[in-house]
Amino acid sequence: MQDWDHLFANRSGRMGASEIRELLKLLDQPDMISFAGGIPDPSLFPAEEFKHAFQQLFEKDGHLAALQYSVSEGYLPLREWIAGQMADLGIPCGPDNIMITSGAQQGLDYLGKLFLSAGDTALVGWPTYLGALQAFNAYEPAYERLDPQNNRPVEDFHASAKVSGGAVKFAYCSPDFANPTGETLSLAERQGILDQADQLDIAVIEDAAYQALRYDGEALPPLMALDTQRTGDIEKTRTIYCGSFSKTLSPGMRLGWVCAAKPVIRKLVLIKQAADLNSSTINQMVMTAVAKSCFDSQVAKISGVYKERRDHMLAALERHMPAGISWSRPEGGMFLWLQLPETMDAAELLQRAVSEQNVAFVPGHAFFADGSGRNCLRLNFTSCGPEKIEQGISRLGAMLADRVAKVA
Ligand SMILES: Cc1ncc(COP(=O)(O)O)c(C=O)c1O
Repeated sequence: MQDWDHLFANRSGRMGASEIRELLKLLDQPDMISFAGGIPDPSLFPAEEFKHAFQQLFEKDGHLAALQYSVSEGYLPLREWIAGQMADLGIPCGPDNIMITSGAQQGLDYLGKLFLSAGDTALVGWPTYLGALQAFNAYEPAYERLDPQNNRPVEDFHASAKVSGGAVKFAYCSPDFANPTGETLSLAERQGILDQADQLDIAVIEDAAYQALRYDGEALPPLMALDTQRTGDIEKTRTIYCGSFSKTLSPGMRLGWVCAAKPVIRKLVLIKQAADLNSSTINQMVMTAVAKSCFDSQVAKISGVYKERRDHMLAALERHMPAGISWSRPEGGMFLWLQLPETMDAAELLQRAVSEQNVAFVPGHAFFADGSGRNCLRLNFTSCGPEKIEQGISRLGAMLADRVAKVA
C-alpha cells in the first residue's frame, strides 16, 4: 500500500477530522435527538421563493448566463444588494468592497491564506468557532487568546509571536451570538478589540454568520461599523467582515461574502480566481431574487421560531439540570454553552449520551485552540422542536445528575 504521509505537505499534519462533521451523520438515525449540528431547521427554508426564482430564471432565458462562468468578484446585483445591507448596519460601502464567497467558511480560508505565513500568530476567542480553527490551521499559525478587555500589553503579544517564528496578523472573532457560546460582545469589548488591533497594527476579522438572528436586547454596531466611525471611511478600516446567507436563507446555496477595503478585496479576488474561479453563478442569481423578495420577512419568521426554541431549551435546562451546571443565556443565534463541574469530561459523556440516551451534543474541547475546555459542551437549539428539546434535555439532565452525584 502506498505510504502517503511522507508525500503530504507539512500543513496537512494539522488537518484533523472534524468532530462536528462526524456527528452530523448521527442526525440520520431516526431516534436520535441531536443538539449537535449548527444547522437551521429546513422546514423554515423559503423553499417556495427559491423554486419561483429558479423557474423565473429559466422562463426568462436568464438561464444561459446563469449556467455560464462569471466574474470572480461575484454577481454585481447581489453585491449591490449586500452593499445596501451593509450601509443599513452602519458600514457605507460600494459593490467594489464586496466579494461573494462560497459561504463565510470560504472567506475564512481565503483570509487565512492571505494573512498567515507558517509561524504567524492569530488571536482567537477561547473558545472560538471550530471551522475557523480548521480553516486557519492549514496555514500553520500559532494561536493566542484574544482579550476583548485589552488588558495584555502589546509587547507581550509581539514577543510571543516572535518566539513562534512570525508576527501577529489578525484578531478573529464573532461579536454577535458566537459559535459556540452564543455570547455577544459588549460595546466596550468591541471597542477594546479595535483598540488592541490599532496598538498591534493588525487586521480584525469579524465573523457575522449569526448577526441577523437577534431575538431580544438592543442590536450593537458591528466591529466594522465602529471601525468606520473611527476612521471615517471603509478604505481606512482594518476590519474585514465575513457575512453569510446560510443561517438566514439557505446553507445549501453556499453563499456568503467578504466586505473590506478594496486592496483586501483585490487580493481575495486573485485567491478566488486560483481556487474556484467564481461561486456558482446560478445560485448567486437566484439568491439575489430571493434576498430581494423575502430577506426581512424570512429573518422575522425564523427569529420568532428560534426565540421560542431557545426559551424552551432554557426552561428545560432549569427543570432538568442538576446543581453545579451553568449555561449561557444568549440573545440570539443558535447555541447554548454548558459548563460542567471541572472534573467532568464532555467527550466521555457524549459516548454515553449517544449510546444510552440517544442524545447528541458537541463536546467543548473542539472549540479551544489548545484543546482545553473538556468540561464544556455546546447545545444547538434551532434544529429540534419543543417536544424533542424537552425529551432530549430531560434525558441529558438525568444522565448528568447521575454523573454529578458520582463525582461529588
Ligand atoms: C461562526 C461561523 N462562521 C462561519 C460559518 C460558516 O458559514 P457558511 O455556511 O456561510 O460557510 C459557520 C457555520 O456554522 C459559523 O458557525
